[in-house]
Amino acid sequence: MDVMFMVTSGRHTRSNLYLLLLIIVQCGRHAVEGVWPLPRAFTSSPERYPVNSKDFYFVYGRQSAAQQGCSVLDTAFKRYFSLIFPDYHSADGVLGFRKHKPFIVEICVDHGDCESYPNEDSSERYNLSVSAGKASLNAETVWGAVRGLETFSQLVYQDDFGSYFVNKTEIEDVPRFQFRGILLDTSRHFLPVQAILKTLDAMAYNKFNVFHWHIVDDPSFPYQSSTFPDLSSKGAFHPMTHIYTQSDVRRVISYARLWGIRVLPEFDSPGHTKSWGKGQPDLLTPCYRGGTPSGTFGPVNPALPSTYRFMARLFKEVSSVFPDSYIHLGGDEVDFYCWRSNPDVRVFMQKMGFGEDFTKLEAFYIESIVNITSALNKTSVVWQDVFDYHERIPKDTVLHIWKGIPVEYKAELSRITKAGMRVLLAAPWYINHISYGQDWFNFYTVQPQNFSGSEEQKKLVIGGEVCVWGEYVDATNLTPRLWPRASAVAERLWSDEKQTSNVDKAFPRLQDFRCQLLRRGIQAEPLYVGYCKQEYQGI
Ligand SMILES: *[C@@H]1O[C@H](CO)[C@@H](O)[C@H](O)[C@H]1NC(C)=O
Repeated sequence: MDVMFMVTSGRHTRSNLYLLLLIIVQCGRHAVEGVWPLPRAFTSSPERYPVNSKDFYFVYGRQSAAQQGCSVLDTAFKRYFSLIFPDYHSADGVLGFRKHKPFIVEICVDHGDCESYPNEDSSERYNLSVSAGKASLNAETVWGAVRGLETFSQLVYQDDFGSYFVNKTEIEDVPRFQFRGILLDTSRHFLPVQAILKTLDAMAYNKFNVFHWHIVDDPSFPYQSSTFPDLSSKGAFHPMTHIYTQSDVRRVISYARLWGIRVLPEFDSPGHTKSWGKGQPDLLTPCYRGGTPSGTFGPVNPALPSTYRFMARLFKEVSSVFPDSYIHLGGDEVDFYCWRSNPDVRVFMQKMGFGEDFTKLEAFYIESIVNITSALNKTSVVWQDVFDYHERIPKDTVLHIWKGIPVEYKAELSRITKAGMRVLLAAPWYINHISYGQDWFNFYTVQPQNFSGSEEQKKLVIGGEVCVWGEYVDATNLTPRLWPRASAVAERLWSDEKQTSNVDKAFPRLQDFRCQLLRRGIQAEPLYVGYCKQEYQGI
């Protein structure tokens, strides 16, 4: 039935090509061992060296600014040892009698930034050189070293007898974009902390570096605020079980840090705030019908001074809980219907001289919130809607492009960068949308800088983001929905565009990387017909 479908859908040419590719892949699996996302400069040779868990060491180079005791690298060594040798316990007994040459991976970093957080300027550049019995990994920062360790772990492979090898290799690598994010939505469905941590692991395997935590929205408010505990006790799906306590949040942030991943919190307002109203009286605008309150509530009430006092206190807390220099303020999809119906809001409009123009009111609100967070030394990120009504938003604000599939977002990139604003692209990467077939092609072939504009404008694209909106996603299907489809975006955002312009070349590599994810316990869904040496054993 499936084959019939493909033939009649007119995509059979491509499908046949993949069948052919599959045969090649499956016969010569070792030949396609590679690294995903593709490094900038990569040469490998057939010269291979044995690697054995009994005699394998990560060591700090003598010149390295970071030494033993560096939390990020000590943790990374432990993690990568287990990732490289998932079966090292069982292998011990069988192969224990053999004599092995040691293999040493020597890490050298220029800066000992072991206790800091990764930020927008952190270098992730690294060089990796593998020769007999030794690999040298050099990076400017510990974050670059973590990326290089991921690459090294992907270079090690097992032959048919279970012995590990790594080939002679030279790699110089640097990401194309500084911001490579994944958005998880924990309001429409609650995601247990464990599901978030697992996603952070998979993000690191893909070299993603920002976890955009869309933590609250209309349906629920799971963030347990220390300043306003009623927000979650009344606004969460359940006040005890479906919340993120302060220690949960700290755990996510410190876990992410060790992988070199920033945590960008989003507290979206003035729309998307229904759940906030449950625990904070007078925050939302009462909607009116026929001169009396109708009993329903609209966006945050921009006419009351108490609103801004509340927001100032909430963002003060949020700014100290989340160490990242960015904060996401939302600002999307504000419906004016309720504001228009409310007599107090109309009086405020007259007082402010906004006339009948509710976009001015919205601009006033957002600017007030941006001023609050700027005073807290945060860079604001807002959804692109804000630019539509407020072209004079402070210049260091980042606009997040989510509208317009498949082509319209290019016009938006062009328009917004022309005003000198920095942008972040999400529109083509709404991965919660699914369809039959290999839709990773569509994610992979996006060209974030291919819009009409000057070179200066193109530099204003700081990166991109995969969004997993939560209407139909919870912990049961999060992982297979994300992976390996998000891996296509990972390569688009990390690797050189020209070297990764061909989906047919990417396919066997991605197929292989997906098997690698399975081997690491990530329940990544299949791309197409085929098999992995180690299949998922979960059922
Ligand atoms: C690694 O070495 C093996 C054995 O010599 C060879 O078959 C394979 O093609 C090499 N892989 C790479 C990526 O160079």
